[in-house]
Amino acid sequence: MSNKHPIPLSVYVHIPWCIHKCPYCDFNSHEFQGQDIKQNEIIYTNALIKQLESTHFSSQRPIHSIFFGGGTPSLFSPEAFEKIINKIREKFTLENNCEITIEANPGTVDKQYFYGYKDIGINRMSLGIQSFNETHLKKLERIHNKQEAYEAAKLAVKLFDKVNIDLMFALPEQTPSELNDDIKMALDIGSSHVSYYHLTIEPNTFFYKHPPKVPNQDDSSKLFDLVCNGLKNANFEHYETSAYAKKGSQCHHNLNYWNFGDYLGIGAGAHSKITSGDSIIRYSCHKSPKYYLSEVDKNNFIKEEHELTNNDRVFEYMMNALRLNNGFEISNFEYRTNLPINEIKEELLIAREKQLISQIDGRIKPTILGQNFLNELLQIFLRSQDHDVK
Ligand SMILES: C[S@@+](CC[C@H](N)C(=O)[O-])C[C@H]1O[C@@H](n2cnc3c(N)ncnc32)[C@H](O)[C@@H]1O
Ligand code: SF4
Repeated sequence: MSNKHPIPLSVYVHIPWCIHKCPYCDFNSHEFQGQDIKQNEIIYTNALIKQLESTHFSSQRPIHSIFFGGGTPSLFSPEAFEKIINKIREKFTLENNCEITIEANPGTVDKQYFYGYKDIGINRMSLGIQSFNETHLKKLERIHNKQEAYEAAKLAVKLFDKVNIDLMFALPEQTPSELNDDIKMALDIGSSHVSYYHLTIEPNTFFYKHPPKVPNQDDSSKLFDLVCNGLKNANFEHYETSAYAKKGSQCHHNLNYWNFGDYLGIGAGAHSKITSGDSIIRYSCHKSPKYYLSEVDKNNFIKEEHELTNNDRVFEYMMNALRLNNGFEISNFEYRTNLPINEIKEELLIAREKQLISQIDGRIKPTILGQNFLNELLQIFLRSQDHDVK
């Protein structure tokens, strides 16, 4: 098996609070319940530092990217992120041009904070906009209006090398013309990356209990086509199921997930995947922020840890890499899973016969049909435990 490059290692830091819990969101994010935001920032930042200090894992591999995700990281001050970045630098070295992203909500914009994030070396901002339409913003219970979204995005583009905006389509009763207006507005902002998600109704959300009237499958695919064409016509490459980027502006951090790279997750509910020798281990931290914080004194951060079986490796690799429209190189599959490609030759044959993938010059790609029926394609690689290739 080829062993060309070390597996990139990223760091994910989770900030699990928001001003208001959106009715569609099933992320590990919690509305503040009367806590003092500043006090909370100090306590939680100290916990993150302690987790970084106590992690036994250290590596010769330089850090490829850092991502502050949430929740709403933009509730925290630049000083908090500076401390965390300094601690990461103390334990590891950073790659040259290490991408450092912060997620921000346009309803929490503090201009001084935005300037501060830039000053401490954060070089990418991802803004959760969702829509520019006032009616949809209200239905989604966003804490910002159209003007605030526009101004936050313009400021982000002025300050940061790379800016992503998150938008969603197939919103309750969304019309094609409303979607076109959102796309126009997104293009006007001038960001180099757009993540355009299909709104999904997730269990454990308010929308699940009180379902809004969302567009049916046919109407949703028409809306999806509008998104793809609108962004392609503006020179965005559709490189992953929901991600579109101008040349050179793909998200390094997310690409590392999709290419089955390694990552260290710090903070409540954060996940890690670490390859060490022949084994690939997944860890997850205590999910509830309250419990996570209550265990800090004991240095007890990890809730669960398990080693990936060969079946897990196959499925998880495919679940990530087949999201990429350009697919993956066979050598990458072999190196990252530590399995020869022949282990999945029957599955690949079935997927090819169903015209869900193509294989050219050592690269396997989902076809347009495969992209549209990604779940069906992934089912082919899902094996029962008694079928383990080990
Ligand atoms: C963790 S959020 C981070 C952004 C920030 N918290 C905010 O909302 O402003 C990441 C993105 O996931 C998307 N998202 C969350 N729930 C979703 C759902 N049910 N369906 C589709 N996209 C969703 C939203 O676009 C959101 O901006
Ligand atoms: S602000 Fe973002 S993370 Fe928080 S609840 Fe809304 S979508 Fe979820």
